[in-house]
Amino acid sequence: MRAYRGEILSVSHDPAGAGDAAVIHQPDGLLVVEDGLVLARGAFADLAPRFAPHFVNAPIEPLRGLIVPGFIDTHVHYPQTDRIAAHGAQLLEWLDRHIFPAEAAFADRAHADSVAAFFLDELLRNGTTSALVFATVREGSVDALFEAALARNMRVISGKILMDRGPDFLRDSLASGRAETEALIARWRGRGRLGYAVTPRFALTSSDAQLADAGAILAAHPDILMQTHLAENRGECAAVAARFTDARDYLDVYDRFGLVGSRSVFAHGIYLGDRAMARMTQAGAGVAICPTSNFFLGSGCFDMAQAEAAGLKLGLGTDVGAGTSFSLLHTMGAAYAACQMRGHSLDPFRALHLATTGGARLLGIGDRVGSLAEGQEADFIVLDEQATPLLARRTAGASLAERLFTLQILGDDRAVARTYIAGTLAHRRSHSSIGQETG
Ligand code: GUN
Ligand code: ZN
Repeated sequence: MRAYRGEILSVSHDPAGAGDAAVIHQPDGLLVVEDGLVLARGAFADLAPRFAPHFVNAPIEPLRGLIVPGFIDTHVHYPQTDRIAAHGAQLLEWLDRHIFPAEAAFADRAHADSVAAFFLDELLRNGTTSALVFATVREGSVDALFEAALARNMRVISGKILMDRGPDFLRDSLASGRAETEALIARWRGRGRLGYAVTPRFALTSSDAQLADAGAILAAHPDILMQTHLAENRGECAAVAARFTDARDYLDVYDRFGLVGSRSVFAHGIYLGDRAMARMTQAGAGVAICPTSNFFLGSGCFDMAQAEAAGLKLGLGTDVGAGTSFSLLHTMGAAYAACQMRGHSLDPFRALHLATTGGARLLGIGDRVGSLAEGQEADFIVLDEQATPLLARRTAGASLAERLFTLQILGDDRAVARTYIAGTLAHRRSHSSIGQETG
């Protein structure tokens, strides 16, 4: 058993609906962890009489900083790590010019292993403890990621990309796509904290037969997710409309192949009408909002107000390599800016909800992680408001809401002092004032 004393904050429900009751905050809190799970969490004064006797030999560890649940990245591409900041193009040209050649290199397993290790360490440095991740069309690229995630005990969900209409150097076939997907599900099911997501890249890179196959695989395995891209870019939407002339809209393309359900996670969803929003909500599907990617590729801005009116399930994604940061703190700040572009003001507690509990619910792991509730897995991070002189200056004497918002606007990996995975320290930032003090 271990116990940590410090300021603890989580947002267990969307404050847009639940109001202030959604924000759970102990200015002087205690987090008690046993066997990787949260045994108790509450005000120190309330819990100390019960737990202090357990900590005679191993004292309660004080953590200076703001303890929050580990962040959940609901959409990211690990094989694109080395193509972050690729200059000069919008989505379809960017894929052709920068991304497809980079993903082809993952036929080499040693390359996949080395990128997977760097990628997961980068997530930990940024306070991300769970993620839904695209691999590549190569089966071995999924093995590389899962092996590295298993070694770090991280909650990672991923899948082999299905793309039988991809470029000739980066495509599978109907038969190989299905066989490799089934083999990966069988090989990795039930191991560590891993999960599988059937992963058709997007409507344009799969045949009708392969999209139907993806729907069949999803239906056959009740424990897996489905991830894909949806309505990200105007040129993409026009190409989809030109190919699928019978579909009511882009979402309907996926719907016709059995890909719209409660285990479906769609990245972007910028160009959707009310019908598609309502249909997603009815089906229990949700959207991974990826604002840094949307700015970088010039894709557009997700309409949070429209999604809120529809009652849609939402999370945040970095979408690296189109995204420009692995930091969910920075992504929350970008989400704020994207909402501003739509005339909407994103509340900082709602942003934290999206990056934690909201993301967890979107990935179907809301019972396990995201809010540091008793019984949940003890994935948490410590945020350092002294990480830079400007952060320290702007947060001094500020309210909780202001401090949180400042961390979202000014913060990034520098503000993540510590990352704990299932109660075990997995990253400690060197030179952090917090790290040195608690040694
Ligand atoms: N649409 C299809 N593939 C991709 C991808 O790799 N990144 C992004 N941002 N959009 C996509
Ligand atoms: Zn993406």
